[in-house]
Amino acid sequence: MQKRFQSGVLEHSAHTGYKIVKLTSGVYSVHSFAEGETFHPVIGPVAEAEALYVNQLQLRERLQNHVGEFVIWDVGLGAAANALTVLRATRDLKCSIRLISFDHTAAPLEFALQNAGELGYFGGYENHVQELLRTNHVTFRDGEQSVNWEFHLGDFPTLISNLKLKTNTSKLLPPPHAILFDAFSPAKNPAMWTLPLFRNLFELLDPQSPCALPTYSRSTIMRVTLLLAGFYVGVGHATGEKEETTIAANDLKLLTEPLDLRWLDRARRSHSAEPMLEPVYKIAPLSAASWAKLAAHPQFQA
Ligand SMILES: C[S@@+](CC[C@H](N)C(=O)[O-])C[C@H]1O[C@@H](n2cnc3c(N)ncnc32)[C@H](O)[C@@H]1O
Repeated sequence: MQKRFQSGVLEHSAHTGYKIVKLTSGVYSVHSFAEGETFHPVIGPVAEAEALYVNQLQLRERLQNHVGEFVIWDVGLGAAANALTVLRATRDLKCSIRLISFDHTAAPLEFALQNAGELGYFGGYENHVQELLRTNHVTFRDGEQSVNWEFHLGDFPTLISNLKLKTNTSKLLPPPHAILFDAFSPAKNPAMWTLPLFRNLFELLDPQSPCALPTYSRSTIMRVTLLLAGFYVGVGHATGEKEETTIAANDLKLLTEPLDLRWLDRARRSHSAEPMLEPVYKIAPLSAASWAKLAAHPQFQA
């Protein structure tokens, strides 16, 4: 499993658990001391969000062809680079975006907002982000774009497990048309990469609403996890940082390059392909049971 690596130069330090780092590309990103990880470590927050999410999801095209509210789940709100890049990239379109962000802490966003000048991607959205931090909800219009943005503070695996079991007392969330999945690496953040989590996530999708989920990892274990959770899985665009990423979807039509039988054969021989069932990082080849399920996935049937 490839992990996000630390990069750049210490630019600014604070007693918040986060610091601003200047990347070799010259732009700034947020770094978490606790995980020892930089949020967008190589090409920077905006370039990564544009490549991985805006372009790969064909977001502008999908929004232009969409009728009604387009729902985006932003998993790992963090410093809101993904969320704000998506909003800015589509602000000239006549569209209605319901943006649902999740994180178990608001601290990186508070820290990023205090350092908005260096980070550079908050321009024009500062008041909306302040409102989101204050009330967990903000709605606004930007030309013809209307935005309804909410923040769910809490442990994401627990939250979606409760949603699936419908034991959550709060109102149910609308199923997404796109998911920005941006947790820390599996080695540092295994709870966000388990098979039960992705199964719950898949089961919360509406089979009638095509939904795609790009993520920066191209690792075999991640792809097997998504497949065994029920997704179709394809090769994702290069981002400048990674020569290949991953995109999963509940509809094969959203994938331009689905993983093929050659990939399946490599997965069978990989030393690191068995999904994590618990939030404990481990590396293992596929078990016989997982291999049987993987080989039977509809994506690999002629
Ligand atoms: C790589 S950062 C996200 C960066 C963010 N998407 C951005 O654009 O700035 C990963 C985020 O996942 C959050 N996270 C990690 N474990 C979590 C959990 N169990 N539940 C919810 N959020 C979690 C972290 O707090 C962190 O903000």
